[in-house]
Amino acid sequence: MRRRIMAANWKMYKTAEQTTSFFEQFIPLLDPNEACRIVICPPALSIPAAVSAASGTQIRIGGQNCYWGKEGAFTGEISAEMLRAAGATWVILGHSERRQHFHETDSDVLKKTQAALDAGLSPIVCIGEKPDEHKAGKTNDVIVRQFAAGVAGLTEEQFAKVCIAYEPIWAIGTGNVATPEIASAAHKLIRCEAEKRFGAEAAQQLRILYGGSVKPDNIKGLMREPELDGVLVGGASLDAHSFAAIVKSA
Ligand code: PGA
Repeated sequence: MRRRIMAANWKMYKTAEQTTSFFEQFIPLLDPNEACRIVICPPALSIPAAVSAASGTQIRIGGQNCYWGKEGAFTGEISAEMLRAAGATWVILGHSERRQHFHETDSDVLKKTQAALDAGLSPIVCIGEKPDEHKAGKTNDVIVRQFAAGVAGLTEEQFAKVCIAYEPIWAIGTGNVATPEIASAAHKLIRCEAEKRFGAEAAQQLRILYGGSVKPDNIKGLMREPELDGVLVGGASLDAHSFAAIVKSA
């Protein structure tokens, strides 16, 4: 059985103070024996507050991006080592908003993934098709292409430590969640690509999360699909009660 991961992507929301108050509300709502892994990814400046609030709980903290260099003249960037030193143990990489607004390519995402692994972080690598690609029936082509240009470049040892998030861009922040069937079909394809490149066992171990308009009222249907090893939640993770309800459905 693959352990499910319920991950929160806070994007550019919550100061350190707001982060602390989220955890004050959220932690008492959790079952301490919850079987899933909970990962919360606040903005970088709120990571120390999150790490301190989550200490001693089953919650792990992650970044939302990192640069591949260890240090150097890269104004405005944060390295994987710096995230690790701040207490983060996970990192989201290649989110569609990073690709769209900050022009990240598959090869950038691969370099970031390798740097994150070198620093001891667990990467959640995002892939997924744009609305026009979805409409044109190109979902499978996009998944195959992004897999080939991204995670396929990892070694077998590196691949074993990576999670993939399938996040169709038409579903992100739109309220337009993918049906469990659509999500499951995409996950199967990703697992199939993983098997071709890394073998059956590695593909079976791979955890694939779904992301895009996950809410307390649609999580149960998604979690009925055995192909879904968890979710990556944006908007609905900002409220403690709503994210706790999602976590409970793991
Ligand atoms: P959403 O965002 O849940 O607000 O759609 C998901 C994401 O961008 O990871």
